Amino acid sequence: MFEGERRIGSKPQIYRDLAVMAEGLFRGERDPIANAANLAALLWMGLSEVNWAGFYFLRGSILVLGPFQGKPACVRIELGKGVCGSAAAQKKSLIVPDVEEFPGHIACDVASRSELVVPLLQGKRLAGVLDLDSPSRARFDEEDAQGIETLAALWVAASDTV
Ligand code: SME
Repeated sequence: MFEGERRIGSKPQIYRDLAVMAEGLFRGERDPIANAANLAALLWMGLSEVNWAGFYFLRGSILVLGPFQGKPACVRIELGKGVCGSAAAQKKSLIVPDVEEFPGHIACDVASRSELVVPLLQGKRLAGVLDLDSPSRARFDEEDAQGIETLAALWVAASDTV
């Protein structure tokens, strides 16, 4: 999968490889924070053109920062606010090709140009979101959304309620 810093293979192949590695990291471990920390590190290591990868967990009616890789980020995001809060409120993945065109986008890292946010659903209950930022415009597409949704589902299945 990796040759130096170069990622090898098509996007679906990269996500299949990441899923196998995530399953390996989660095996025998049910702690949601530990598994989230390892998944954030795996995404950071395995995906190109990504400047932030991590979790926000739903605490009451607000999203609170969880394990991540990248620059320090805003800690609390209200439901319905920004890309994360919108994906959480709608319980659906959001692909944002240009964050400057997303009304209410919350700029944690000024380098971020595009973003993908996937909800973490434990059954119908929203546990939080998994957020990826890129310094490149239109970095994320449907294949990324599907790949990240699969990884999010693996995290949910492998982890106790957060
Ligand atoms: N840009 C996000 C905020 C979180 S950071 O990207 C880490 C948003 O608009 O919700």
